[in-house]
Amino acid sequence: MSKFPVSRDSRVYVAGHRGMVGSAIHRKLKEGGFSTILTRTSAELDLRNRKLVFEFFESEKPEIVFLAAARVGGILANDTYPADFLSDNLQIQVNVMDAANENDCDRLVFLGSSCIYPKFAPQPIPEEALMTGHLESTNDAYAIAKIAGIKQVQAIRRQYGRKWISVMPSNLYGPGDNYDAELSHVLPALIRRYEDAKISGSEQVTNWGSGEPRRELLYVDDLADASVFLLENFDSDQHINIGTGVDHTIREISEAVAKEVGFSGKTLWDTAKPDGTPQKLLDISKAKSLGWAPKTQLKKGIALAVEDYRKRIVAETKS
Ligand SMILES: NC(=O)c1ccc[n+]([C@@H]2O[C@H](COP(=O)([O-])OP(=O)(O)OC[C@H]3O[C@@H](n4cnc5c(N)ncnc54)[C@H](OP(=O)(O)O)[C@@H]3O)[C@@H](O)[C@H]2O)c1
Repeated sequence: MSKFPVSRDSRVYVAGHRGMVGSAIHRKLKEGGFSTILTRTSAELDLRNRKLVFEFFESEKPEIVFLAAARVGGILANDTYPADFLSDNLQIQVNVMDAANENDCDRLVFLGSSCIYPKFAPQPIPEEALMTGHLESTNDAYAIAKIAGIKQVQAIRRQYGRKWISVMPSNLYGPGDNYDAELSHVLPALIRRYEDAKISGSEQVTNWGSGEPRRELLYVDDLADASVFLLENFDSDQHINIGTGVDHTIREISEAVAKEVGFSGKTLWDTAKPDGTPQKLLDISKAKSLGWAPKTQLKKGIALAVEDYRKRIVAETKS
């Protein structure tokens, strides 16, 4: 029995429904019997445009909002375009939250990211580690925008008494991921590299760094499951971590990817390249204490992600 149930007839707006996270939330809502799911692409509604966002909320009156629209990218993109990451994300969040509040939307789930935590946070990282140290400099602009989003949720809760929450996922992967060679995160980048090597008949793959840093990877449908679960079971000022609670070395992850795609060549490690943060593991005990747990094992999740890559990207390149 949910603590804060919502009607399946509610008008639910998924901001960013074509993205990896938004599309997973959209699937989960449909599976869960939600009948009125509102969506707009960024071409139809640029969430940086405050006037259009207010008009949308005034005419559609969403009762529940999942805020999964954001400018998102890996280290290189964040490091190269910090001004865009800061400005776009602040504008999207402020516009959506102000318009939702103005239109008496009582339920909102804000999606952030584990990069909000200090670079040298204790591992596993508890929610309380927020703002206790310096951020990783390559994505601090993005992180500051996300921290501002958490603060806006808290401020609106305090001033208007709304049941809004903030959810901080670990690294995510799965259907709809970005496999761009320059802009992607670690797992989609590995899938692309090994699959491309297999297709081209290459006998070796070179990965960046030593392979020793540890990463936590959550299958995106598990995050979608958590987001809907938390909407109905969590009501707190404090943000909440969502992950698997388990991490693996990049070497282990790359071995699992190589095996899944059927690459039998050699993997080399270019130790002249930087390793990045040694470990980033979230403490998910709070979510677990509410009764949520991830369902997808890494091996199974990698198989599903490889299938997605082949279906969407490899097939597209061939056609
Ligand atoms: N990917 C991860 O590993 C990860 C990890 C932790 C947290 N998250 C969080 O999850 C959220 C979504 O990430 P994602 O991976 O799903 O990103 P994504 O696949 O890049 O999708 C982003 C979505 O945002 C929409 N969007 C971007 N700019 C917009 C604008 N100006 N106006 C309207 N819509 C706009 C895009 O809409 P269109 O498709 O219509 O252009 C797209 O659907 C982010 O808040 C991110 O911080 C992601």
